[in-house]
Amino acid sequence: MKNYYSFVGSDVGSWSVTDQNTIIGSPLERVQRIEVVNAPLNNLVERGIWALQGFTSNVRYANRNEIIKLQSVQEGLNRKESVCAALIPIKKNAAWWSMSQDERRAIFEEQSHHTEIGLGYLPEIARQLHHSRDLGEPFDFITWFEFAPEHTELFNNLLEKLRATKEWQFVEREIDIRLAR
Ligand code: HEM
Repeated sequence: MKNYYSFVGSDVGSWSVTDQNTIIGSPLERVQRIEVVNAPLNNLVERGIWALQGFTSNVRYANRNEIIKLQSVQEGLNRKESVCAALIPIKKNAAWWSMSQDERRAIFEEQSHHTEIGLGYLPEIARQLHHSRDLGEPFDFITWFEFAPEHTELFNNLLEKLRATKEWQFVEREIDIRLAR
């Protein structure tokens, strides 16, 4: 069974929204708080103003060498000092999804260096990728990051680099939601 996560935006929840910006595409309604629940939306009674869901999955792009590097430095979610988070839902365009897996990998890594760039921000930034596309959700991915307040600028710097890559030319909707607990 899939490991589902639901992200419910309303005026209740353990994370308070400190900033919400539409990077590209149509916005999401502004909310005050977000609750993250380790369950599919179907199982929830309270769905707030909006609710997004995704599931964690196996890797699609990372090669063995990259997996080894990631595993040697990355840290998990829920660290005591990680009181800041970012919830960034992303949708890629039809051109992206019309490509073959190896064409996408070439853009993702050989041309955009997504993993190589990201590795430079570990272990300060902890991350979790959720897949939504196969659920017919409005976004393809729901990305989640956690870090200590003093690493906010570091995280902004990472985003600036990634958003300047070729991979991001295929992003047609992206909302940047910053949170604090
Ligand atoms: C913190 C450092 C980061 C590292 C080490 C990292 C690493 C990775 C890796 C290895 C994958 C591929 C997973 C697979 O093989 O399926 C991936 C996918 C992805 N990452 Fe990152 N990432 C980082 C930061 C970010 C940021 C800041 C964003 C944007 C908000 C982001 C958005 C995504 C998305 C949307 C995917 C899925 C791409 C696709 O399947 O088309 N990542 N990341």
